[in-house]
Amino acid sequence: TGGAHVPVLVIGTGYGGSVAALRLAQAGIDVHMIEMGMAWDTPGSDGKIFCATTAPDQRSYWLRTRTKAPLNYFLGFPIDRDIPRYTGILDAEDFSGITVYQGRGVGGGSLVNGGMAVTPKRANFGSVLPSVNADEMYNIYYPRANAALGVGTIDPAWFDTTDCYQYARVGRKHAQRSGFPFVFVPDVYDWDYMKQEAAGTATKSALAGEILYGNNHGKKSLQRTYIAQAKATGRVTISPLHKVTSVAPASGGGYTVVIEQMNTNGDTTTTKTVIADRVFFAAGSVGTSKLLVKLKATGLLPNLNGEIGKGWGDNGNVMCGRANHLWDPTGSLQSTIPCSGIDNWAAGGAFAEVAPLPTGIETFASFYLSITKNPNRAQFSWNAATGKVDLNWQTSWKQPSIDMAKTIFDKINAKEGTIYRTDLFGVYKIWGDHLTYHPLGGAVLNKATDNYGRLTAYPGLYVIDGSLIPGNTSVNPFVTITALAERNIEKIIATDL
Ligand code: FDA
Repeated sequence: TGGAHVPVLVIGTGYGGSVAALRLAQAGIDVHMIEMGMAWDTPGSDGKIFCATTAPDQRSYWLRTRTKAPLNYFLGFPIDRDIPRYTGILDAEDFSGITVYQGRGVGGGSLVNGGMAVTPKRANFGSVLPSVNADEMYNIYYPRANAALGVGTIDPAWFDTTDCYQYARVGRKHAQRSGFPFVFVPDVYDWDYMKQEAAGTATKSALAGEILYGNNHGKKSLQRTYIAQAKATGRVTISPLHKVTSVAPASGGGYTVVIEQMNTNGDTTTTKTVIADRVFFAAGSVGTSKLLVKLKATGLLPNLNGEIGKGWGDNGNVMCGRANHLWDPTGSLQSTIPCSGIDNWAAGGAFAEVAPLPTGIETFASFYLSITKNPNRAQFSWNAATGKVDLNWQTSWKQPSIDMAKTIFDKINAKEGTIYRTDLFGVYKIWGDHLTYHPLGGAVLNKATDNYGRLTAYPGLYVIDGSLIPGNTSVNPFVTITALAERNIEKIIATDL
């Protein structure tokens, strides 16, 4: 097929892409969104759209024949299992020194993430996005993003009494006994719905172990917020199971976009060409960086500047568990939605989420995902021999993150007389230092693009996702990705369209 012409094509349906689609549609512009993952709108044979974390089936992983769980060991035993190869929801994308977890499907990362919706402390914003006016962000765009995402905070009285946050109350007690600030963290999960789950009056999702492979209820993913609003304008169409492989200037103006349609085995079934006046790269930090690095290196967009592919960071992610005493059980029922954190950013460079370990049995374990001020930045580059894009991150670059996380947990262990768990990431391995959930950068704002995401060498090409952010947000990233997209699209609509 060919010859189709669209005013705006958006690559990807995560946070950046959804903001762009909604605001452009509201401005009266027709938008076509291309998404490599599935639509995730149809129940499987079990009546559910998504499978539980404890029972992964073909829906769990993107084109793998074996699961690759982030917490891959339990009591020293590997927990991964064989699954049929399928266009599942969670991509564990392996680079040489790191596995980058990403959501695949309409809604991007919002389908698989914990929904923790955190606005960075204003004092830290200058180091997150140095070229962006903080007043505008905190007065206009963060509030706009939080409202549209449906962000809310747990009822503190309920937190104090419900069984499903026993693990977080233990986290609070240990943090406070060691003198660390304990903070509630907002989330996009519907907190009233979770109360009904606990009361037994609604179908369980957060209380049934659902999260990593999708939540069937309760979570306000982008499908229920920005994308629902965008569809309601009547101006937005979405093509799932379609992957953009190329963007290049078209002879008559605009850009020729090559799109491969695939089946659920991941095989290409049709190759399509569309001409778009404008293209928004919203394929996520990894997806956008891979496309731009390839297009520059292979001569399709040769004038992209030398910053393309640079400034990539892992948001300093590192995981660990602690073994509690028998008098500190963390509970056999654990909500999968984290609601709290330990803030040692200013003193130790670490912000630790008190995370669930929803195994269904008492483990006496406290589990944490830390976001740290890791200074290391990696670069994507084109590998002509393999025809793929490489990332030069090395596992040893996580050491600063481990050191920063230890400023919290060494102190808590000393105070409590406890030790680290060594059975969660391997046999006698303390740190989950092989992965990130928070890829950021690769097309950094005001470096690879102008200060609003324009790829200035190519009028009409824009970046509008996590690749704009230079490697770290000091907290979980999606509120910042959303707010920055709101800021940039407002400027682009006002001045370019
Ligand atoms: P995002 O990755 O959301 O979307 C990109 C989309 O583009 C994807 O749907 C992808 O399939 C598609 N795509 C890629 N290449 C393509 C191509 N060539 N053609 C077509 N489509 C293409 N953050 C947070 O703030 N709080 C949290 O609690 C968590 N928790 C969490 C848990 C887990 C397990 C993960 C994996 C991630 C998180 N995150 C998180 C991170 C958060 O989800 C992430 O930062 C955002 O989803 C990134 O938003 P983007 O818009 O940049 O891309």
